[in-house]
Amino acid sequence: MAQASARDAECLGVSCFGGVGGEWPKDMRVGLLDSTLREGEQTPGVSFTVEQKLEIARLLDEIGVAMIEAGHPSVAPDVREAVRRIIGMKRDGIIRRAEIIAHSRAVKADIEEAASLEPDRVAIFYGVSDIHLRYKHRRSREEALATIAEMVEYARQHGVRVRFTAEDATRADYEFLVEAVRTARDAGADRVSIADTVGIATPYGVRRLFESLRRDVPGVEFDIHAHNDLGMAVANSLAAAEAGATIIHVTVGGLGERAGIAPLEVIAVALKRHYGLDVVDLKGVVRLARLVERYSGVPITPLAPVVGENVFTHKAGVHVAGVLSNPETYEAYPPEWVGRSRDYTIDKYTGRKALRARLERLGVHVSEEELMAILRRIKERSEARWLRDEDLLEIAEEVTGRTLRLRPPEHIEALVTVRCDSNIYTTSVARRLSLIPGVDEVIEVTGENDILLRVRARNPVELNQIVEAIRSVRGVSSTYTMLVLRKLGTGSGDRRKTGNKREKT
Ligand code: COA
Ligand code: ZN
Repeated sequence: MAQASARDAECLGVSCFGGVGGEWPKDMRVGLLDSTLREGEQTPGVSFTVEQKLEIARLLDEIGVAMIEAGHPSVAPDVREAVRRIIGMKRDGIIRRAEIIAHSRAVKADIEEAASLEPDRVAIFYGVSDIHLRYKHRRSREEALATIAEMVEYARQHGVRVRFTAEDATRADYEFLVEAVRTARDAGADRVSIADTVGIATPYGVRRLFESLRRDVPGVEFDIHAHNDLGMAVANSLAAAEAGATIIHVTVGGLGERAGIAPLEVIAVALKRHYGLDVVDLKGVVRLARLVERYSGVPITPLAPVVGENVFTHKAGVHVAGVLSNPETYEAYPPEWVGRSRDYTIDKYTGRKALRARLERLGVHVSEEELMAILRRIKERSEARWLRDEDLLEIAEEVTGRTLRLRPPEHIEALVTVRCDSNIYTTSVARRLSLIPGVDEVIEVTGENDILLRVRARNPVELNQIVEAIRSVRGVSSTYTMLVLRKLGTGSGDRRKTGNKREKT
């Protein structure tokens, strides 16, 4: 579990300890429980194979999550098999650190099945709001407390640690919630998860709720399980941690029922950014997100914090100018934290500074007037959603009259070096070579080779025929062929019809 430490970097923003954001507890202690394999598989349309689950579990452990909720064994045979094998990986030392959790309803059959696999912990859930009690469990509050006590004890008798999940806790009557948590604690649960099952809590409410629970029920550690129905899962999770929750439930990419729960990657970065907490190796989260994207079939949107394609790409000229001067002007945290890099797009929102920086990156130096002319052209092309480097160079060529682009040849071009027999007159060989169709240029050179040929062919077969013809010339002892991949046009390139008045390169 990561412990908050004062950040030494100079901090001018709202999240410095004691800054505008409020006074953060300096002894904050928190870790992640990843439930991609349990809650995440409850995403409509998602079903992982057992092998995919093992791979995800291994990566989760590698980046350092404190707990992995591997699944609810009673759901289906393959879910049970995955939980069994993940527990086996822990036993075999393949998973080194993460605690492995099996999920269970508050019924003996589920608990028995979960405990028989010998996980580190069984998590037993039970709805504690009146809505859940009345319409789902059809039990009175007293009956519910008796069930919680009996089932937690039953699991404890199997020798596993127990977490009790108070489902729909944020809609429960507070006094009854306290009774339920006490009951679970007294029956042997060392952790209680407070679930905002329908995602209706606010950060202020969550903070107060956890502060009250910690005061009213000491001797037990709290988890926060925050759903994202109103987009507040991350904020609510952080609020709970500020108020003393020591485990935050997450899934990769925020998978889960309906709008999902708090995304692992966002919580991990936010904990570091705001409280200086390193809960996982951030360099691994992008890889993990891409893996889960592939296996779940749920695409990462370009705007997804931390892992989305756009989130380190700047657009507006004012922003890019700021970022070029100091990235902190428009970045919440450096992309390097998660092994990514920043970029910016070129389009009608671009300004001079961005454009010059991009051109220089492409090795193109232009005068101030040329820069302004290029910028005007860019802004006239409002239909272009963004300009690729290739498009930008084309505009720059039009404006400057210089050839700037690297372009692949339209036909096959090759350079062929020729070595001649030692007793032969090189110039006579050169003359014969110059008569071969497809040989464009013949150059006598010094050094190990005697002649350099520039050859042009329509296709590989024709190139072969030309090289064969070269080899069959009397006096040629050996040849070596190099294909031309790209050519950099020079200022006197043949492409420009308008002349090269302002040639500069
Ligand atoms: N503890 C005890 N019983 C619970 C419960 C809980 N936390 N939550 C629901 N139940 C009961 C319901 O009251 C209902 O019981 P009933 O049949 O006596 O009315 C039953 O569980 C749920 O209904 P249903 O799904 O139709 O029962 P089932 O026996 O066919 O299947 C599961 C049960 C768990 C195997 C099945 O629902 C399943 O595969 N669920 C996926 C996992 C899941 O739902 N997880 C929720 C995590 S928050
Ligand atoms: Zn949930």
